[in-house]
Amino acid sequence: MQSKISVATALIASTLAAIAIVPSAMTAFAAHREIAKKLSTDRLETTSVADANGNLHVPDQYRATYQFLGQSPQQLHDVYASPGTVTAYQKTGRFPDGAVLVKEVFQADTGKMTTGSVSHAGALKGWFVMMKDDKGRHPDNKLWGDGWAWSWFDAGNPSKTTSTDYKTDCQSCHVPAKASDWIYVSGYPVLGKVAASQ
Ligand code: HEC
Repeated sequence: MQSKISVATALIASTLAAIAIVPSAMTAFAAHREIAKKLSTDRLETTSVADANGNLHVPDQYRATYQFLGQSPQQLHDVYASPGTVTAYQKTGRFPDGAVLVKEVFQADTGKMTTGSVSHAGALKGWFVMMKDDKGRHPDNKLWGDGWAWSWFDAGNPSKTTSTDYKTDCQSCHVPAKASDWIYVSGYPVLGKVAASQ
């Protein structure tokens, strides 16, 4: 709470500074919009990525509306979190109910460049999507359990998963991250607590 207030105060202070430097209505408006945007990322958005039967889909517009969490070292996986997730995690050290994580998987294109052999992201292969579920929404659905909904989507079909059972399709590989709620959080420094000075 304290840090939220000080962040808000800092934002207001920086806005006033911006307005003072360039006293045009346009700047004030842009700064205001910037604050609105900042505050909206603090609020947890629980727009569901699941239909009534618990079928997930890849959320629309996640690249524009989600927060970028990070990349795996090979840089072929980009991970995004739904609005409000990062702020909530920084405060509580856990993923809030309804939080959605999207991991993009790209094919590796490796080629000779002047710096040597370089890999970069090629075609998108698909997405891993997880939604935090504290409520046990779909106990009979094999893609829901251990506090999450789990699904993989091939690039050609973001609305229909090919996963059938999270325990065999996903969880076995996430066992090393069990203590951090099955998520490899150490790969995402942005989830760390906000320093007291900020
Ligand atoms: C072959 C092992 C493996 C399988 C199978 C697997 N994962 Fe992962 N997953 C990982 C590893 C390792 C990471 C973290 C590093 C990375 O992104 O490569 C990860 C990262 C993720 C992330 C980003 C958050 C995090 O924990 O870093 C999501 C979301 C995710 N996986 C979802 C799934 C879902 C859903 C399934 C099943 C449909 C699944 N994974 C199956 C190994 C696996």
